[in-house]
Amino acid sequence: MADHVCPPWLGYVLLSPLRRFIENPQTMLGPLIQKGMTILEPGCAMGYFTLPMARMTGENGRVIAVDIQDRMLAALEKRANKAGLGDRIIRHKAQTDSMDISAHGGSVDLAVAIHVVHELKDPRTFFSEVREALKPGGKFLIVEPKGHVSSEAFDQTRSLASVLGFTEDSLPVKIRGRSTLFSRK
Ligand SMILES: C[S@@+](CC[C@H](N)C(=O)[O-])C[C@H]1O[C@@H](n2cnc3c(N)ncnc32)[C@H](O)[C@@H]1O
Repeated sequence: MADHVCPPWLGYVLLSPLRRFIENPQTMLGPLIQKGMTILEPGCAMGYFTLPMARMTGENGRVIAVDIQDRMLAALEKRANKAGLGDRIIRHKAQTDSMDISAHGGSVDLAVAIHVVHELKDPRTFFSEVREALKPGGKFLIVEPKGHVSSEAFDQTRSLASVLGFTEDSLPVKIRGRSTLFSRK
């Protein structure tokens, strides 16, 4: 699909506290997260959403934070340890053509892909891997930026997810950008 990947300098920009006025992690994700959940976050970058999700899921929960870039994961590790959340966040390096997350098969309650799908080289494999990681009935939130992703392109993403074993749900909260919530069939 895409040949552009978010550069590390933009990873730092994405951590800006001002971003909360547009994309507040608690408002966006709070209604989907319960204590003790296992959350899969492909394309975590430096953890703008990862750390708040680790707080929301509590000490018995886990966030499996996946990225293809070492520099993103290294910055995430520093931030997580500084916040005392290192033991709730499992960092995982993906390859561009596969997340290689079979070890987590059937264990995930919620997957969250925010501003990631348009960067994927192989969305079909990506959706299959997310589906395999989810528990039956597990949820999958996708958010894409309007500036990079047309409504037609987003509709193609939704169709692909439907073909690959997801059912579209209604979102419990209004999220800016192009967003949708799926359940694993
Ligand atoms: C625009 S950033 C969004 C980061 C974060 N979700 C946020 O909203 O702050 C996209 C991230 O997805 C990662 N990425 C791109 N392709 C990926 C893939 N195939 N698997 C996992 N991560 C990927 C990039 O390295 C980058 O860190």
